[in-house]
Amino acid sequence: MSSDVSLAPNPESKVENPSAYFQKHPPGITYVQYSLDKETEYLPQIRELISKDLSEPYSIYVYRYFLYQWAELCFMALDTTDNNKLAGVVICKLEPHRGGPLRGYIAMLATKDSFRGKGIATTLVSKAIDLMIEKDADEIALETEETNTAAMKLYERLGFLRSKKLHRYYLNGNSAYRLLLYLKEGVGSMPTDEYSYGDIPFHGEDDQAHQHQDAQDIFSQGIV
Ligand SMILES: CC(C)(COP(=O)(O)OP(=O)(O)OC[C@H]1O[C@@H](n2cnc3c(N)ncnc32)[C@H](O)[C@@H]1OP(=O)(O)O)[C@@H](O)C(=O)NCCC(=O)NCCS
Repeated sequence: MSSDVSLAPNPESKVENPSAYFQKHPPGITYVQYSLDKETEYLPQIRELISKDLSEPYSIYVYRYFLYQWAELCFMALDTTDNNKLAGVVICKLEPHRGGPLRGYIAMLATKDSFRGKGIATTLVSKAIDLMIEKDADEIALETEETNTAAMKLYERLGFLRSKKLHRYYLNGNSAYRLLLYLKEGVGSMPTDEYSYGDIPFHGEDDQAHQHQDAQDIFSQGIV
């Protein structure tokens, strides 16, 4: 039900040019990597920004799951004209996927309403992609709601391909696309274990009852 062979990206394909080309610098915006010493100032702002566009807000533990383990893969856009307040954020992780490829995962992405359409999210995602490339990632994955035109456009412009349609993926009943960016040739053919340490057993993506049991998917519901 969820897989759609016609959507599968070519496993031999890979990203051709570094994403720096897409990075934009609107006046007053500076880009900063998250670090744990910034938690007091920025975690509340991150939660507020992300939860604004979520149907069910994440608990603080979900944010900490990502930020404590992959702080450097979180980038923030700050408004220098307003006390460096948060204008946008991307939160990611990077780990082997079921014993196979080193997979980057974009978990959350948001830009404050008043700053949208200026290339901020594109720059945040580009910075995350560049760092994952530096860390030898094989591929990058994410899910996004099929009706999220801005996000689909942004990711497809950066080279992400539709890998699967996930029917009624979100708790609000909306469907999603899983998008993949291959960073190395042939990575789509790398073998993976069905069950590997750290994953909750996954019973097949065609089975909707188990769709949300993939540990990675649990943290992606509602936003990407
Ligand atoms: C998706 C989101 C992060 C984009 O942030 P942003 O900083 O405005 O993004 P950018 O300016 O880098 O690029 C957005 C692209 O989408 C386009 N876009 C924006 N709104 C659009 C719309 N309603 N319809 C079509 N395209 C749209 C922009 O034109 C731009 O494409 P372009 O550069 O080719 O013109 C932002 O809209 C947001 O925070 N949405 C709510 C949370 C969310 O949906 N997160 C993504 C989950 S995967």
